[in-house]
Amino acid sequence: MKIIAIANQKGGVGKTTTAVNLSAALAARGKRVLLIDMDSQANATSALGIEAESEQSLYPALVGQALLEDLVRPTNRRNLSIVPAHIDLSGVEVELTQSGTHLSCMRDATAGLRRSNFYDYVFLDTPPSLGVLMTSSLCACDEVLTPVQCEFLSLEGLSRILYVMEQIRDSGSNPNLVHEGILMSMYSNTKLANEVIRQVREALPDKAYETVIPRSVRVAEAPSFGQTVMEHDPYGAASLAYQNAAKEFIRRHR
Ligand SMILES: Nc1ncnc2c1ncn2[C@@H]1O[C@H](COP(=O)(O)OP(=O)(O)OP(=O)(O)O)[C@@H](O)[C@H]1O
Ligand SMILES: [Mg+2]
Repeated sequence: MKIIAIANQKGGVGKTTTAVNLSAALAARGKRVLLIDMDSQANATSALGIEAESEQSLYPALVGQALLEDLVRPTNRRNLSIVPAHIDLSGVEVELTQSGTHLSCMRDATAGLRRSNFYDYVFLDTPPSLGVLMTSSLCACDEVLTPVQCEFLSLEGLSRILYVMEQIRDSGSNPNLVHEGILMSMYSNTKLANEVIRQVREALPDKAYETVIPRSVRVAEAPSFGQTVMEHDPYGAASLAYQNAAKEFIRRHR
């Protein structure tokens, strides 16, 4: 089992979209996948058509009042389960900071999942800030996958998350943390987007996915139907791209 945090402290770069669609595409290929929604916005939860209720968010598992395994819910998709989020997660930040357990809470919460080794991949959809939920995710995961928007200032966001990962490693909280890769998203064929891709590939050749996710209105509208893009627009370019990203992900994990 591998735990992969989908992280980039820059907002709106496609973290949730990647978490949902990559999870679903891997599940469709027969991998056992669990998606944990670490964001109080609960975007991944609603994107899969699930209504989160307070008692079913991750909150009690983070403060040691429930087992994470008991919060797992089916998504009505084969091989794909979720631990939903709820707005109550925004309150956990204060609680965890005060208790001083923010670096270890998610690692402790996922210990049972690691022992049972039931899932092939556990994805963490992290929020867009360097708060407690983000740091606890980075301390609990094996790898970080970074979605990057093909736009101006994307590289700046990328170097910042690489720096944060370095700090987490150096602090001893997660010395073996690996940067799994960079998935470039919201691509449209413009000079700027092509230049961003070129720069990322030049700077981090073995990290950048070959697959690039195109900008498509289908991707943006799918969550309003509680659907993945593969369900909403199975033969569209973005759907095929996420399926290719899943194949590439599997290849990279052999
Ligand atoms: N390939 C795409 N084509 C078009 N729209 C997209 C694409 N990927 C994501 N979007 C849209 O862009 C917006 C931001 O995407 P998303 O929510 O995945 O980003 P995020 O990084 O999770 O944001 P946040 O930082 O707020 O958590 C959403 O409205 C989403 O539907
Ligand atoms: Mg998000």
